[in-house]
Amino acid sequence: MLILGIESSCDECAVSVVRNGAEILSNQVATQIEFHVPYSGVVPEIASRKHTEWILPVYRQALQDAGISEQDLDGIAVTDRPGLAGSLLVGHTFAKGLSLRLGIPFAGVNHILAHLYAVQLEDTVAYPHIGLLVSGGHTMITLVEGPLEMKVIGATIDDAIGEAFDKVAKHLGLGYPGGVLIDELARQGNPAAFAFPGTSLQKGDHRFDISYSGLKTAVINQRQQFLQPGCEASMPNIAASFEKRAVDMLLKRMLDACAVYEVPRVVAAGGVAANTYFRRALREHREIDAWFPSLPLCTDNGAMIAGLGYHVLQQHGGDPLSATVSARVPG
Ligand code: KG4
Ligand code: ZN
Repeated sequence: MLILGIESSCDECAVSVVRNGAEILSNQVATQIEFHVPYSGVVPEIASRKHTEWILPVYRQALQDAGISEQDLDGIAVTDRPGLAGSLLVGHTFAKGLSLRLGIPFAGVNHILAHLYAVQLEDTVAYPHIGLLVSGGHTMITLVEGPLEMKVIGATIDDAIGEAFDKVAKHLGLGYPGGVLIDELARQGNPAAFAFPGTSLQKGDHRFDISYSGLKTAVINQRQQFLQPGCEASMPNIAASFEKRAVDMLLKRMLDACAVYEVPRVVAAGGVAANTYFRRALREHREIDAWFPSLPLCTDNGAMIAGLGYHVLQQHGGDPLSATVSARVPG
């Protein structure tokens, strides 16, 4: 089965063709970052307008790269939650129109599950595993028991980890998007230079939850103390110490989750899974079998949507035309 995957939940306009949930035939990603840089964050109005302009050419390019015509498609998968409602609606409405015109089913796909599925497009990772979703909008520790079976066992109670990277980068004057800039700066710094606070571990149902707002504030306050001339020398140290603390807090909960659920296997996905220290630190835990998608499949893309969409269509069939999008994942 050839499935078209459409992703428009945030600022990437992406379309891909994937065969049988496994083989990527094309993977077009058009990023809007340059239009959001002046605002240091994604502006929903700009994002949805850009998706409206770009979705048709990106779709045509994805078909051309795959060497197929649209009549060859068997189904359409599209992100329908969570994300920016206006942006989701562009992809979703496009998918419905295409479904009607081609007479093939379309199915809405959960963006979070799709991030965790991305690794299966390159490797075969056994179930169950602990899934870490670390992106600009989400920080979750999950138990993944199949492509469509995921239980959230811990999550951030305030900022997402990528959001913390982006906000810290903004306060350090690095620019946007900040995660990759902190990653680069941190490589020149000493991660032991500053002992930033983490969050204390909770008990019971909240033991895997995490908070980034205290760490973020501590880093921003530290920066204020170095605003005098000559402060630049300490910037790599601040970046490295923040990065280490942010990642270590998450890894501690992940290791606990592996022990409690007796699952020594982890898949990490989402933009922050591209972080150099994160990848190295996770691999250093030899007792854990750690898997990551390659960098292009860590960030938002249509291939993960098409890949997971294959399973959704096989198990549940297509959605009715009355289906709509959801900015949040219910529950
Ligand atoms: O998954 P993603 O592309 O979009 C969603 O949020 O769904 O993730 C984007 C986030 C941003 O916050 C960005 O700063 C962060 O991932 N990011 C990184 C790195 N590359 C991207 N954070 C830390 N280190 C990186 N190398
Ligand atoms: Zn994402």
